[in-house]
Amino acid sequence: MGQLKENEKIFFGGGDMIISPEEVEEKIEEMNETLLIYRSAIKEVKTKLDILDDELKIRRKRNPIEYMKSRVKTPGSIMDKLRRRGLEMSVDAAKKNLNDIAGIRVICSFVGDIYDIAEMLKRQDDIILIEEKDYIKNPKPNGYRSLHLVVQVPIFFSDHEELVRVEVQIRTIAMDFWASLEHKLYYKTSGENPVHITNDLKECADVIASTDMRMQDIQREVEKLR
Ligand code: GTP
Ligand code: MG
Repeated sequence: MGQLKENEKIFFGGGDMIISPEEVEEKIEEMNETLLIYRSAIKEVKTKLDILDDELKIRRKRNPIEYMKSRVKTPGSIMDKLRRRGLEMSVDAAKKNLNDIAGIRVICSFVGDIYDIAEMLKRQDDIILIEEKDYIKNPKPNGYRSLHLVVQVPIFFSDHEELVRVEVQIRTIAMDFWASLEHKLYYKTSGENPVHITNDLKECADVIASTDMRMQDIQREVEKLR
């Protein structure tokens, strides 16, 4: 028999109630089912991206995708986010309000590949674009760059269909290198970096972005030589 931790009881609507072993079992099942839905959505979108990558490998003689990473948010981090946003701590509220329970990070070779992949994904009939944020054309003030899409995809189970949202972050190796290190440094100091560090990080992001542009130009030139 599984046990729910105190914060999990709140999340599943058990608040200050004492819940029976049957109810605990039911809540755990609900959690497993929810996680299954999001894991399945990741598989679905990842397969679409894999197929595009394979096709382009044949048509363009090179893979636009270097690699992908994916994750389903943990119940603990779902709850933290609901709490931060002042929302109800429930599975329903999480499904309704959070776009990033399922997340895929797509690391591309060149900047142009990011937009190619995004367009090809958005064009697919069963994909609905919910939100798009272009932090490449409009970088964040700290220098962060990436293309973010929130897409909705249908998932077919034995007796029903679910429309599930997945956050897709598409970036180059260089953008990912910066974002990973910035994330580490940010958390080391709880986000309170002295101004000169913030400025240095921003400068690094800009240098990286201009290198990305030069690599893109070189790639286009090499392409013409083929
Ligand atoms: P969240 O509540 O963080 O999801 O913000 P949001 O809903 O406004 O989404 P946004 O598209 O701005 O960012 C979502 C995700 O992008 C974050 O969870 C990070 O993974 C990534 N991200 C956004 N900004 C930064 C940044 O400044 N640095 C790094 N390293 N990652 C970022
Ligand atoms: Mg997020």
